[in-house]
Amino acid sequence: MTTTDAAPAPETDDAQQVHAAGGRGEWWRSAVIYQVYPRSFADGDGDGMGDLPGITARLPHLVELGVDALWLSPFYTSPQLDAGYDVADYRDVDPRFGVLADADALLARAHELGLRVVVDLVPNHTSWEHAWFRAALAAAPGSPERARYLFRDGRGEHGELPPTSWRAVFGGPAWERVTEPDGTPGQWYLHLFDVSQPDLDWTNPEVVEEFRDVLRFWLDRGVDGFRVDVAHGLVKADGLPEWDAETEMITGTLAGQHGESRTPPPMWDQEGVHEVYRAWRAVLEEYDGDRMLVAEAWVDPVERLARYVRPDEMHQAFNFGYLVSPLEAAALKAQVEETSRAMAAVGAPPTWVLSNHDVVRHTTRFGLSAAGGNPDGLAADDDQPDPAVGLQRARAATLLMLALPGSAYVYQGEELGLPDAVVPDDARQDPTWERSRHQVNGRDGCRVPVPWEAGSPSYGFGPTDASWLPQPAVYGELALDRQRDVPGSTFEMYRAALRLRRDLALGSSPDLGWTELDGAAPVAGGVLAFRTSGALVVANLGEAPVRLPDGAEVLLVSGELEHEGESRLLPPMTTAWLRGPADPS
Ligand code: NOJ
Repeated sequence: MTTTDAAPAPETDDAQQVHAAGGRGEWWRSAVIYQVYPRSFADGDGDGMGDLPGITARLPHLVELGVDALWLSPFYTSPQLDAGYDVADYRDVDPRFGVLADADALLARAHELGLRVVVDLVPNHTSWEHAWFRAALAAAPGSPERARYLFRDGRGEHGELPPTSWRAVFGGPAWERVTEPDGTPGQWYLHLFDVSQPDLDWTNPEVVEEFRDVLRFWLDRGVDGFRVDVAHGLVKADGLPEWDAETEMITGTLAGQHGESRTPPPMWDQEGVHEVYRAWRAVLEEYDGDRMLVAEAWVDPVERLARYVRPDEMHQAFNFGYLVSPLEAAALKAQVEETSRAMAAVGAPPTWVLSNHDVVRHTTRFGLSAAGGNPDGLAADDDQPDPAVGLQRARAATLLMLALPGSAYVYQGEELGLPDAVVPDDARQDPTWERSRHQVNGRDGCRVPVPWEAGSPSYGFGPTDASWLPQPAVYGELALDRQRDVPGSTFEMYRAALRLRRDLALGSSPDLGWTELDGAAPVAGGVLAFRTSGALVVANLGEAPVRLPDGAEVLLVSGELEHEGESRLLPPMTTAWLRGPADPS
């Protein structure tokens, strides 16, 4: 077994200066950040909708699991037409989730427990119930109230045609016509998402100032960072040029639809967004304690993504290229190398993620016959996953991810191996289901409330049977109390992995050396093997068992090892963390 090469590539001068200035010490560089989706984590009052007191009561779970921080999806005042990503008041808590004092209590308790808290910030659009949008509707075309949004006159003789052919991400046109206060058909406003989510005009200094103030509001309350929604969308190309293709959240080759073109569509990844983040970085730096910004930016190639995390912009960006990658050794190795290289060039840590509230859970994705990718939700009559295969692959993928240097994101319930639930059509709530005229199933399947105790109402989600999305019976079998202290359970695997990751400092390993097993090439036969600080990681993503090096200690394995004489064999779709025999430690 020999080390063949090492990633990441050498850093630029800029990045070296950042590190020389002590940049390596920041907590977020190697943190495991757990995403809490407030609607579905824990319901304190039994109304079937999760809430902040429910989350606070369950925070010890995150300590037991061993993560460093939590990211809370939106809990702000909102009509919930896009599950809270439609914010009506950025400085208050929606009554469904509690009151402002509950947010303060959650922050205080999390900090007491040693957990950092990152909150969601939704700056691309507000809700149509936001005071600004109400004022815009009540005001005249050309007024300062309208200038906070993207109102335009329609085309056609009577302005009856939308200003451009832009399409909304959730389906249908991206423009909606308003009725003017005098009752006549009027201007149109842009909404890249739901019709209830009007886009703000980020060239307006009032908008810029408002969000700096919102940042300060939450920083003053003690949050440790912000996850920035649709970070690549805030600024649109000058003049809103025509674009008549479908709109996906994604740019470049990630989207498939644009082929090799590197020109982003006029709504995404425009140069002007970077000025916004430089200003935000300056706000965060007024505060102590390493506050951070993480970008939700579906941009491609990764070099474009790296521009969001230059030294004076954000700190991290989600790695969606990794999330949508097929579970294949060559593809994943390329993702790891390209990401590591691009992030190192700007001095930012790479991040890794397999699931979140917008995608089919990875246990399910990997159980489908076309494993991986980014399917649009599952319906009862779709090709169904093989749950055992999906779980085995998901566990292998997880141990691979958690061994990588950098920061990792874990979505609530993945530590239980939850699959996506098949939500009946009449229970679907994702706006994309209606906006796409029932063509796109939407994201409800990954948002079903978490099971805590098999024998309790709503599996312990809350004190009653109520659950805003129906929980499938298998969630009872996978409830936390069925897995805690059960050797080999998915929960115990995550716990052990997070403990070892911390003990061995895997997240801050300076580099990653791809290795060969038994003289095979690093990805031969679908095997991915690398040395990182204190561990040898072997992910067998191929079809044949792989012999593990004699004398190596097995620290953790995602499945069962097989034996052949004296040799231990790592079965297909299994990952092992080993120590030695040649490890310096
Ligand atoms: C990305 C969020 O993750 C998603 O849930 C939301 O629908 C869109 N942004 C619009 O805010």
